[in-house]
Amino acid sequence: EEWKDRGAAVSIQRHVDSNGNQTHRIVKKGVQDFNFGRTLGEGSYSTVLAATDRQTLTEYAIKVLDKRHIIKEKKVKYVNIEKNTLNRLGDHPGIVRLYYTFQDERSLYFVLDLATGGELLGFVKKLGSFDEECTRFYGAQILDAIEYMHSKGVIHRDLKPENVLLDDKMHVKITDFGTAKILDLPSQNRTSNTDGKTQLDRQEQDFANNIGIPDHERANSFVGTAEYVSPELLTDKSACKGSDLWAFGCIVFQLLAGRPPFKAGNEYQTFQKIVNLEYQFPPGFPGVARDLVERLLVLDPTKRLTIENIKSHPFFEGIVWGKQLWKQKAPRLK
Ligand code: ADE
Repeated sequence: EEWKDRGAAVSIQRHVDSNGNQTHRIVKKGVQDFNFGRTLGEGSYSTVLAATDRQTLTEYAIKVLDKRHIIKEKKVKYVNIEKNTLNRLGDHPGIVRLYYTFQDERSLYFVLDLATGGELLGFVKKLGSFDEECTRFYGAQILDAIEYMHSKGVIHRDLKPENVLLDDKMHVKITDFGTAKILDLPSQNRTSNTDGKTQLDRQEQDFANNIGIPDHERANSFVGTAEYVSPELLTDKSACKGSDLWAFGCIVFQLLAGRPPFKAGNEYQTFQKIVNLEYQFPPGFPGVARDLVERLLVLDPTKRLTIENIKSHPFFEGIVWGKQLWKQKAPRLK
């Protein structure tokens, strides 16, 4: 018997003592409860391994983080951001779900959805580019996931085809929230006290306790992956929800063109191209998609299309938004 409680999963062990009395022990899941398999990915601070729950035989991806390395490299706050963000985004089909966390002396463990298809980037590289139908489908799923995370007050800040995973049904699962920005939740997510004072709900309280870092310290220090970085991050060192929509525009461009819009020999030159809006559509780039991308890759973030605007753009004509989008069969990649 087991249940899941915001990442802290427990199983109930039933014991019968020598007098025949039943007792129950609550045991948190740990390393010993999983069989570890192949390596799925490696980052600078972590390794992701395939793993199977020995009791339920459910397969997961487990992200293993080395504690000493994280402390030495001063990345503790990013690990907290990732855990807290994933807990806040627990319930959307387009976002990798965090089931359990635990630790041993050496490592932290994040037990995540296994996305057997791997990175969207792998498919772009293999196929060269996507056709309009596939770009529409994957673009729509990515956008729906962005809409959900923005509604929960999370800006991803590093959206790119490496961070878009695909599951066994070839549906999108967005991952890697280590550099996300957590906004104050809107008022409907706060619970009122009897004395009328606004009280942070428990999840939010956990954030405050866990992170405890003033926002200004984080906001200035982060730059995502060069090719997808928004101009406002380069000029004002500030990210907003619109920054994720800039990255979304870059991804839509890349799926159809086979390369990101802003790419140069080095990061500095890439940044120059971004702040000067210096990019070109390849011959044959579909007109409707061009119109969409041109309205997303706009230097002023307040002038970009909103998520609602994007959903009603002619490029996404025919897409049924909401739950239906996640019940749909993925178009075959060709
Ligand atoms: N690589 C990194 N995270 C992964 C995941 N959750 N599933 C599959 N491969 C991954």
